[in-house]
Amino acid sequence: MAVPAGTVVMVIVVRVVVAMVAAVLARAGTVLVGGAGVCRHAGTIRPGAGGDYYIPGPHPPMPRRCRLEFGERASLAPPTPSSQPEMTVNQRRTDMLDTEPQAINAPLSIAAAFLVLSIKDDAASLATARSVLGSTDDLVKNIVIRDVSGTFNCNVGISHRAWSPLTGKPMPRELAPFKEIRGATHTAVSTPGDLLYHVRAPSMDLIVEFEKTLLDAFGDAAVAVDEVAGFRYFDARDLLGFVDGTANPDGLSLPAATLVGDEDPEHAGGSYVVVQKYLHDLAAWRARQVEEQERIIGRTKYDNTELPDAPAPEQKSHKTLCTIEDEQGEHDIFRCNMPFANPGRGEYGTYFIGYSRRLWVTERMLERMFIGDPPPLHDRILDVSKATTGTTFFAPNRKFLADLGG
Ligand code: HEM
Repeated sequence: MAVPAGTVVMVIVVRVVVAMVAAVLARAGTVLVGGAGVCRHAGTIRPGAGGDYYIPGPHPPMPRRCRLEFGERASLAPPTPSSQPEMTVNQRRTDMLDTEPQAINAPLSIAAAFLVLSIKDDAASLATARSVLGSTDDLVKNIVIRDVSGTFNCNVGISHRAWSPLTGKPMPRELAPFKEIRGATHTAVSTPGDLLYHVRAPSMDLIVEFEKTLLDAFGDAAVAVDEVAGFRYFDARDLLGFVDGTANPDGLSLPAATLVGDEDPEHAGGSYVVVQKYLHDLAAWRARQVEEQERIIGRTKYDNTELPDAPAPEQKSHKTLCTIEDEQGEHDIFRCNMPFANPGRGEYGTYFIGYSRRLWVTERMLERMFIGDPPPLHDRILDVSKATTGTTFFAPNRKFLADLGG
């Protein structure tokens, strides 16, 4: 049957228009219709007017080793054998479990405790300590199940001195004893400690219950060398009256700043922890005008607004001295400071705790605070805050800890 000439012309026009639209969309990296080829990664490769395009499968995250981005040109040739074999879902899960961190990135709590222990050096005490470290998860679970909010958590850190005798494993790359820093006016002291227990909870009863069980398990093998109970003060303020913790990293920047990665694969998922106990001279602080206090901290007191950096070479604020930048950008740490007080003894302080992926970042902050930038312009917060302890630990990943139990 003869097809009318008008219909033929119409079909040709429609085909040309479709091809043109497809070409434009293809250049913009858009999904194109056509015969489909199946990609290794559950997505599809579709031929389009401008070439072949990768269309991801229904799963939201891109496959780890997939080299094709959405809409990127692809070849339909069979994949060339790669030296790196494809990871299965099970392998990926094992990988994640092997490096699962402790509760490093948990948020500020209502109550917290910082317990620093010294472990006796004899073989029996070390064996006990290893066994207690290996059962950290069980000790924590025993409290979490009784905590309606389910937010109780505890991190354990091991110091440089205790690392080899307790673990028998290679040291994390940067782990070193806390280096004393002597500025012209103030000193960051270095004090002993083999293990750090950083406990965060919605109430103090849970912390006391946990520490009681923990210390019973250690028996004579461990001695507490320092113990501080921290509490949340109004608006998450420190006892100097300023909101503390605002500039902490969050979202994906948080694990990027705190957890060791490929740079030290054996310790991936671990975190360096630096602690210092500061005692405040509140009378001296109160004697300063609020404007001066704000210049010292680098934020306003009432509404916590960040102030501009002082122009060089003027005295830098605390927040400026603690901002570490180089050609790679800004290097953050995660602080979980808590106020503590014993009013009857006139003791008011801040327990500083900083988690970091790279120990040198926290160390650089301390140097800038105590020595000054430029020297001798030290951090004026130190004129009313005396560091009475200083210890460095490494909080290994959960599997590393569990394996210590044998
Ligand atoms: C007496 C002890 C300390 C007190 C009371 C204190 C208090 C504060 C306050 C109120 C802020 C501003 C708000 C915020 O962003 O959190 C701040 C910022 C900061 N502090 Fe401290 N701090 C103390 C010690 C330290 C130490 C020892 C370090 C590091 C070794 C440190 C590192 C930082 C950092 C990284 C910031 C954020 C800087 C930025 O804005 O990027 N702080 N601190």
